[in-house]
Amino acid sequence: MYRTHTNGQLRAADITKKVTLAGWVQKTRDKGFMVWVDLRDRYGITQLIFDEERTPKEMMATASQLGREFVIQVTGTVIERESKNPNMPTGDIEILVSEITVLNKSLTPPFTIEDETDGGEDLRMKYRYLDIRRKPVRNNLVFRHKVTMAVRNYLSEKEFIEVETPYLIKSTPEGARDFVVPSRMNEGQFYALPQSPQTFKQLLMVGGMDKYFQIVKCFRDEDLRADRQPEFTQIDCEMAFIEQEDILNTFEGLTRHLLKEINGVEIGDFPRMQYDDAMRLYGNDKPDIRFGMRFGELNKVAQHKDFNVFNTAELVVGIAVPGGNSYTRKEIDKLIDWVKRPQVGALGMVYCRVNDDGSYKSSVDKFYDQEDLAKWAEVTGASKGDLICVLSGDTGKVRAQLSALRMELAERLGLRKADEFAPLWVVDFPLLELDEETGHYHAMHHPFTSPKPGQLELLDTNPGDVKANAYDLVLNGNEIGGGSIRIHDKKTQAIMLKHLGFSEEEAKAQFGFLMDAFEYGAPPHGGIAFGLDRLVAILGGQETIRDFIAFPKNNAGRDVMIDAPAPLDTEQLEELHLKLDME
Ligand code: AMO
Repeated sequence: MYRTHTNGQLRAADITKKVTLAGWVQKTRDKGFMVWVDLRDRYGITQLIFDEERTPKEMMATASQLGREFVIQVTGTVIERESKNPNMPTGDIEILVSEITVLNKSLTPPFTIEDETDGGEDLRMKYRYLDIRRKPVRNNLVFRHKVTMAVRNYLSEKEFIEVETPYLIKSTPEGARDFVVPSRMNEGQFYALPQSPQTFKQLLMVGGMDKYFQIVKCFRDEDLRADRQPEFTQIDCEMAFIEQEDILNTFEGLTRHLLKEINGVEIGDFPRMQYDDAMRLYGNDKPDIRFGMRFGELNKVAQHKDFNVFNTAELVVGIAVPGGNSYTRKEIDKLIDWVKRPQVGALGMVYCRVNDDGSYKSSVDKFYDQEDLAKWAEVTGASKGDLICVLSGDTGKVRAQLSALRMELAERLGLRKADEFAPLWVVDFPLLELDEETGHYHAMHHPFTSPKPGQLELLDTNPGDVKANAYDLVLNGNEIGGGSIRIHDKKTQAIMLKHLGFSEEEAKAQFGFLMDAFEYGAPPHGGIAFGLDRLVAILGGQETIRDFIAFPKNNAGRDVMIDAPAPLDTEQLEELHLKLDME
């Protein structure tokens, strides 16, 4: 037997017991006549002691030669510690070692295996297996497991069945590029890895599975960010014989259960917000509603004076920054520089201080008097001591810019508290979205999303105005899930695909299998998919999903540990009928 106990287990009640432990050497303290070793495993740290009086000489020598991260096994007696450590669960005891075996040596690790390590991100990713030995990373993985188990148990109890769907499939459009896999047996043909199991879960509904879920890997070849990985995990769900209301209630229930079970937070009914309102009030379809700073549209009160910048803008919009009047001129200038950075892209920022005596001082006093500025304050909800920040320009752009500023200021003001949870349903998304580059419409959610009843006719005349039975679940300013009620008849699906620019042949080639299935008694159905990595990170009080993935990819989509992607040798390329012409 390698061990009788783990390194997090022994307490004062175990004193006098003979135990065997195994683990990694966290550190040694060698006083010559006495050697202490911190022995670590997944469960904790236990202190070992070797001393001249009680330990045989050769064992003393072995103990003092132990290096960091050596793997050892010891047998010994649990004794009371002379100087107890109240900060450690095992801090009352230590092990007087009577036998030691070095199971494996270790090179000196390239970074310290401590909570606060000296290793940079790249180094930690290259030696991720060492990083996983560190408590914060290990805790994140344990946390993820807990969330996953809670999800499985909850859904299983509600009669959802977990069904696996294939990974080697045909493109399922979710708006990103596909990762493709060449087929050896079918020359010149490729599988695509699923961007989601969307079409398969719909086919499961046609197959009568009724309530499906799957904790499943999805693959999307898109630019990476803190909340995006090329392979990530969804809690993918689908239900038949339901309406939007049923889906929202079911998955609000799941989210509420997780918040209670995992975070001990009880939350009542989740608020719902129309997409149009989210865009108008927060400039964003995933508003963080833990704090205010709602947008106030100022066109009516700020245009038609002599300030041409505002007069020529499609939208003039501002937010009131609580306590912002305390900013110095220099600080405000820095804020203006911040919104002018290319990542934000504003041309400038107008501001107005609301003084403690209720008077106003703006950067455009030449054009606006106190009465005008009082209206700005009213529209943005500014009070004494606040600063009103105003941007102007094209509606879409200016909303995104002010939204970025709102989030940045909230971060600086400490309003984005990690232990506060504000879920929100955003509903009534547009069905289609105009791609500014190509001038074509594409499905905002995906092509299988049904339009709201009675709106199909609008597709011909005002495609941009058609609303969908689509919804997103937002948590603390992050989109943690999205779904829709689906089209379940061939005719509507065909109309939809036509509007998305598919010819009849293309539609048949790509989605014929789904349209055919719709002809064999497809029930009304709909669903949602949560981003598990995002959900776990946010419940864990963070926003970087990499920290909650055992072996994540870096920002260039590389796994730096195994060094992938990598070239194939000529033989393998030939077998796959691939010729690389890289002149
Ligand atoms: P959607 O594309 O909105 O919907 O994806 C669902 C959720 O998955 C998460 N997500 C990601 N997480 C990490 N890295 C990524 N690259 C990434 N992309 C998406 C988000 C998102 O809300 N088939 C539909 C669902 C449905 O209609 O039922 C779908 O995939 O949290």
